[in-house]
Amino acid sequence: MATPSAEKRASELRERIEKANYEYHVLDQPTIADEAYDALIRELRQLEAKHPELVTPDSPTQRVGAPASNRFAPVEHARPMLSLSNAFDEAELRAFDQRVRKGLGRDDVDYVCELKIDGLAINLTYEDGKFVQGATRGDGSVGEDVTANLRTIKSIPLSFREKIAGRVDVRGEVYLPTASFEATNKERAERGEPPFANPRNAAAGAVRQLDPSGTSKRNLAMWSYSAAGLDVASQHELLERLRELGVRTNPHWKRAKDVEEALAFIDNWRQKRHDLDYGTDGVVVKVDRIVDQERLGFVSNNPKWATAFKFPAEQVTTTVEDIKVYVGRTGVLTPVAWLAPVLVGGTTVKRATLHNLDEVRRLDVRVGDRVIIQRAGEVIPEVVRAEHDAREKGTPYPEFAMPERCPECNGAVEHALGEVAYRCGNPECPAKTGQRIGHFVGRGGFDIEGMGWALITQLQERGLVTNPADVFFLTKEQLLELDRFAEKSASNIYERIQNARRRPLGRMLNALGLPHLGWTTADDLAHWLVGRLPKNPSFGDVLRVLRGTTAEELQQISGVGEVVAKSISEHFQRPEEQRFLERLSEAELRPILPTPRAVADSGPFAGKTVVFTGTLERRTREEAEALVRSLGGKTSGSVSAKTDLLVAGPNAGSKLAKAHQLGVKVVDEATFDAMLH
Ligand code: IVH
Repeated sequence: MATPSAEKRASELRERIEKANYEYHVLDQPTIADEAYDALIRELRQLEAKHPELVTPDSPTQRVGAPASNRFAPVEHARPMLSLSNAFDEAELRAFDQRVRKGLGRDDVDYVCELKIDGLAINLTYEDGKFVQGATRGDGSVGEDVTANLRTIKSIPLSFREKIAGRVDVRGEVYLPTASFEATNKERAERGEPPFANPRNAAAGAVRQLDPSGTSKRNLAMWSYSAAGLDVASQHELLERLRELGVRTNPHWKRAKDVEEALAFIDNWRQKRHDLDYGTDGVVVKVDRIVDQERLGFVSNNPKWATAFKFPAEQVTTTVEDIKVYVGRTGVLTPVAWLAPVLVGGTTVKRATLHNLDEVRRLDVRVGDRVIIQRAGEVIPEVVRAEHDAREKGTPYPEFAMPERCPECNGAVEHALGEVAYRCGNPECPAKTGQRIGHFVGRGGFDIEGMGWALITQLQERGLVTNPADVFFLTKEQLLELDRFAEKSASNIYERIQNARRRPLGRMLNALGLPHLGWTTADDLAHWLVGRLPKNPSFGDVLRVLRGTTAEELQQISGVGEVVAKSISEHFQRPEEQRFLERLSEAELRPILPTPRAVADSGPFAGKTVVFTGTLERRTREEAEALVRSLGGKTSGSVSAKTDLLVAGPNAGSKLAKAHQLGVKVVDEATFDAMLH
C-alpha cells in the first residue's frame, strides 16, 4: 500500500508537471528549465513504479506507453464533424457576409477571425474534466479512436484546470510544426521513402501510427477552435474559456465588427503567415454570437455561420534550366524541372516535379521555358504552366523525351501499354537498389542507425552491397576500408548491423520493400504467419512458408484483397528476387514474433455494443469502456435496440429498465469480469 506521504507527493508532482505543461504549451511561457521538468517526471515515474496503485489514467506519465490497438476502433461522433464552405476572394467573402446579414435580418454582426490551421481535425472528449477519448474526423460521422496516440501530445491536456461536470467535446487541429515536417521529410528521403506532400498528411500519418511511442516522437501539437458542452454565449468567449481550462488555442484571432475588419485581418496575414512555424492555408471567419449561429444553421455539411477564406497558392515565375529524370525505389522514372532558384513563400525553390511524361506533354514544358510554379499544399512545388508566348524566336526549345535507357544504370526503360509510368527494367539498377537498401535499413525496416545515403552509396560503389541483404554480410575490415571510417565508427556500424538481426517480424517483412506490402499489411501478415511457423523460426523459415503460400491463402488476412494477395505471392516466385531471398535466408535473421492480437475477431466483445450503468466498483466507467474497446467491442452511453449487453452496477436506473424492456442481456460487474477471461 502506498503511504499517505507517497500519495501526497505523487499528486504534488502531477500538479507541478501539469502546470509546467500548461505554461509551456498553452501560455507559451515556460517557468521551469527542461532539466527541472525532466527531474519531476523522473521522480513521478519512480514513485509510480514503486506504488502502481497510485497511477491515475490522467497522470502525465501515462502519455506514452498505453498499448497500441492494431486497428483503430470506430467512434461515432456525438455531433457530426462538419466542413467549411470556402471563399476564394474578397467578393466571395462579401457575399458570405451578405447572406449572414440577410439571414439574421440585421446589419450589425460581429465576427471572429481565426487562422485556418493546416493539420488534421480531431475531437477530444472530456468526462467530468478528464480526457477520455480522442478521435479523428473520419467521414464526419464516424472517426477512429486514436486516444492512445493523442495522449502523447503534450499540448492536449489530460484534464481541465477546473472541474467541469459532464461531457465536453473539444475540437481542433493537430498539426506538425514546419521544422518537424521538413525534418520528417528529410529522414524519409534518407530512408528512400517518398516525402509527405504536405503537413496535413504528415500529421495524419503520425496520429495514425500503430505505436503511440512513434506518435510521441513526432513533435505534434494541437490548436483548439471549438467545443460543445461549455456554457458560453459567443465564439470569442469560447476561445477564452478553453484557454482558461488549459486547452491550447491559437493566439492570432481577432474580433471583427464587420466584413471590412475581417478583410483587413486576412490582408494582414497574407504575408505574415510565412513567419509562423506552422502552416496555415487561410482564415476562418465565424459569426461570433452562438444564438446567431444557431439561427443561421446549416446547409448540407457546412455551417452557414462560418466560411474559410483560402489564401491563393503562391505563384512565381522562373525558368527551366534542365529537365532531369529521377529513378525511384520501384524503378519509376519521374521528370523533374531544375529551375533558376526563386523564393516562394519564404523558401528557395530549385526544383519542381513534373510528375510524369503525360504531364510534361500536357503542359508542353521545355528546357529554356519561362514557367509559373506554385507550392500546392504549401510544400512540394509544381509547374502550373509554361509561358509559350515568351519563347524567343530562333532559340531551340527541344521537346522533352523519356530516355530509352535508365540514367542510373543504362538499363532498358520499359513502358507498359496503357500505363502512365516508365520504369527501369533492370532489377539490379543501383538507383532501385540504393533506394531499396535505404528502405531495408530504414526505421520501418531493420532500423540500422547511421546507415545514411553517403554510406550506402560508398558500399554500392565499391561493390560491397549489390542487394539489400548483403548488408548483413559486411565484415568489420570491409567497413574500416571505407572513406572517413575510423576504428570506432566502423565497429559501431558493425555492432548495429549485428543487433539488427533481431527485429519484429512485421518490420522485417516491411523491409523487403514489396510493392503492395506497406507497414500495416506487413504487420497483418506477421500476425497471420505466427501460427504457420516452427518454434523459434529463422527468417529463412518465414520466407520458405511465404514461398509456399498461395494468393488464395493470403486473402484470408482481413484487409488483403485479391490484387495485393496476388502481387505478394507472385513476388516470392520472381526469378530476379531469388538471389536476394537466398541471401536473406542465409543471413541468420531471427524475427521477434508478434504477440497474438487481443483485438478479437472472436472474443466475447467482438463486434458487440456494450453499455455501462450504475456504480462500477472495480474500475471507473472509462476504464471499463476502454477494456471493451481494446477487446474489439464498441461502447455507447445509451441503451437501444443495437445494444448487445448492459453491465449494471448498484443504483442502476432508467437504462436498466430500458434494457429489460428491449430484451437486452444484462449482467453485473462480476459477470462482466468473468467474461474478460
Ligand atoms: S471551424 C463547422 N476553425 O478546417 C466546422 N476549422 O473545412 C468547424 N480548420 O475540418 C470548423 N483551422 O479541420 C475551424 N480555426 C479553425 C480551423 C478549422 C483549421 C479545419 C478543420 C475543418 C476544416 C474545415
